[in-house]
Amino acid sequence: LRTVPPLQLGERYFHLFPNERDPVWGVSGIHVPMCRPPPHANLGQGEVVRSAPKFLVIGPQKTGTTALYTFLAMHPGIVANYPSADTFEEVQFFNGKNYYKGIDWYMNFFPVPANSSSRYLFEKSATYFEGEVVPQRVKALLPHVKLVATVIPASRRAYSWYHHMRAHNDPAALQYSFHRVITAGDGDPRPLRNLRNKCLVPGMYAKHLERWLDYFPSWQLILIDGEELRNDPVYIMNELQRFLSIQPFYNYTEHLRYDKRKGFFCQVTEGDKTKCLGRGKGRVYPPMDESDAKLLKEYYQPYNVALEKLLTRLDYPVPRWLEEELQ
Ligand code: A3P
Repeated sequence: LRTVPPLQLGERYFHLFPNERDPVWGVSGIHVPMCRPPPHANLGQGEVVRSAPKFLVIGPQKTGTTALYTFLAMHPGIVANYPSADTFEEVQFFNGKNYYKGIDWYMNFFPVPANSSSRYLFEKSATYFEGEVVPQRVKALLPHVKLVATVIPASRRAYSWYHHMRAHNDPAALQYSFHRVITAGDGDPRPLRNLRNKCLVPGMYAKHLERWLDYFPSWQLILIDGEELRNDPVYIMNELQRFLSIQPFYNYTEHLRYDKRKGFFCQVTEGDKTKCLGRGKGRVYPPMDESDAKLLKEYYQPYNVALEKLLTRLDYPVPRWLEEELQ
């Protein structure tokens, strides 16, 4: 029998099994093949124990997730994560580099039980939806969490993202027209391709949902129609409260009102005023060219067919916009 020192052994192991290099944080500590520390090694005596979120708003971006987050945070029984200064207030733990900061880093975004025990903690990170590794990671750490996803017509989402990037002075979005972006080919410059992907990929809803459903049963996931959220948020918030079994039932009718100037529903504040989302939400931009709308309709056709099939199979309601797209 031959052996080598632990470090070399580890290096050899990960050379043989490179797929296992990534840690997967789990409910009972850290699951890394071959090196498994004691369960919850990080929780020492007297240390603050934080509660895990009961549900996640997973996105995708530009489908109304900020409105949803804001309306949820108004509920007296619901507590949102502390905002993260680095990532536009979202925690963005399960995708990207933050995951390597570990469980404690994540849990520090949630209040301690003293003021949250009977309340529903949640976080919204709109980048989770299309992240390849996200469902697996969420399942390992939060197997019972409920998931809230929002969908709008994929072409509208793509166009909204394009204008979002222009408003943020993204050089590619400023340089290229929307038509050029959505028709970019694999030989085009990388910034243009990246922008194309960020416009188009999240809208392949069925593909991403299937990935979540590989890890979670359908009853743990609700699909919100972002168009309905925009036009009738009270109805959606009632549906969501029922799905999450949240007590007390909050009467949103008294707390949300359509604001003519903003053109959206806003929060009713003291003195019977309204507080709307900021300028970056509900932007004003010219309507999409008809030819681009037609092109995107064809592009998304197979994804929309798959989405309708998936929703019907799961006995989920089919959004009206999806029925219209498929007519
Ligand atoms: P536009 O700015 O393109 O109109 P997200 O928060 O996921 O980034 O989504 C932003 C989109 O939310 C906005 O896109 C807007 O259409 C939509 N939205 C839905 N309800 C809204 C509300 N009450 N106030 C502002 N925007 C809302």
